[in-house]
Amino acid sequence: MREQLERLKQEALRAIGEASGEDALQEVRVRFLGRKGELTALMKGLGALVPEERPAVGQLVNSVRDEIETGLEVAQQAARERATIERLQSERIDVTLPGRRLAIGTKHPITQVVEEVCDIFAGLGFSVAEGPEIEHDWYNFEALNFPPEHPARDMQDTFFVEDNLLLRTHTSPVQVRTMLKQKPPVRIIAPGTVYRCDSDATHSPMFHQIEGLMVDKGVTFGDLKGILTVFTNQLFGQKTGVRLRPSFFPFTEPSAEVDIACVICGGKGCRVCKNSGWLEILGAGMVDPEVYRHVNYDAEEISGFAFGMGIERIAMLKYGISDMRLLFENDVRFLRQF
Ligand code: DAH
Repeated sequence: MREQLERLKQEALRAIGEASGEDALQEVRVRFLGRKGELTALMKGLGALVPEERPAVGQLVNSVRDEIETGLEVAQQAARERATIERLQSERIDVTLPGRRLAIGTKHPITQVVEEVCDIFAGLGFSVAEGPEIEHDWYNFEALNFPPEHPARDMQDTFFVEDNLLLRTHTSPVQVRTMLKQKPPVRIIAPGTVYRCDSDATHSPMFHQIEGLMVDKGVTFGDLKGILTVFTNQLFGQKTGVRLRPSFFPFTEPSAEVDIACVICGGKGCRVCKNSGWLEILGAGMVDPEVYRHVNYDAEEISGFAFGMGIERIAMLKYGISDMRLLFENDVRFLRQF
C-alpha cells in the first residue's frame, strides 16, 4: 500500500509536470483526486489493512493528497500567468500607428458656387428667398409678362405637371412671390433648382439658377451695373471687365445680357469665348412696370432691377469644366477635386 501510494504520487507529479495548460491540469486533478480518481480508489483499500496500520497509512494518504494538491495549485497558477501574458501579447495595440481617417466628403461644386454667390450678395445687403419647384403658370409666366403664345411656354421647353402647374423653368417666379408678400424696399437673392426639356454638353434638364431683385425708391440702371460689377469682381477676381449688351426679357425693360472678360484668355480670344474675348454670364434689366402691376406695386413710386444667372455655367467657367454632365454624374474622382 505504501509503495502504491508512493508510485501514485510520483505518477501524479509527473502528469502535473507534463500538463500543458489549465484544462490539462484540471484533467490531472480529476484523474487522481476526483471522486472516481485513483487516490480515492486506493483509499478504499484502507479497510483491508490491519487496524494498527490504518492511522499511519491514513496519514500517508493525506500527505500524498496534499502534495498532489499543492503541485496542482502551483502549476495552475503558473498556467494562468502564462495565459495572461500570451493574451496581453496577442491583443497588444501599437499606439504609435497612425489612426484610420474617416473619409470626409466635400461640398458639391454647385453648392460651393451657390454659397459663394449668396455670401457676396449678403455683403451687399441682400437676403435669401425661396420658392417652390412645382410652380403655377401664373407665377412662372403670366405675372412675369410672358404673353400666352410665348415660345418658352411650349411643351418643348417646359415640363408640365398639369394644365396650369409646371416645373419652374427659372427662378424669376420668386421675384413675384416676394413682392406679393412684402412692400418695398426689397433686396433678395433666390437660389434654386429649375427644369427645362433640354440636354447636351452645356444643357441639363435639371439645373440651378440664382435670381436677384432690388426694388426701392430711385433705383437706377447705374445701381444695377454697379452691383453686378462688384459681384463679378469678387467672384472672378478684381480686374474682370464687365460689359452690358442690350437684350430682351418680357419682365424687364430695358434688358441686358451681362458679359465678363473671358476668364480663360483674359479677353484676347480663345475657343471658350469663341474668339470674342467675352463670356455671357447673366441676364438682367429694370423691372418692367407690367410686373409691378401684377404685384400691386406703384411703378410711379418705385423702381428696381432684376437679374438671373445659371450656376452650372458659372461653376464651369470658374473651375474650367468642359462638360456640364460631369456635374451630375457624381463620380467621386471628379467631385474630390473641388
Ligand atoms: N429668367 C431668365 C432665364 O431663365 C434669366 C433672367 C434674365 C432673370 C433677366 C432676370 C432678368 O431676373 O432680369 O433665362
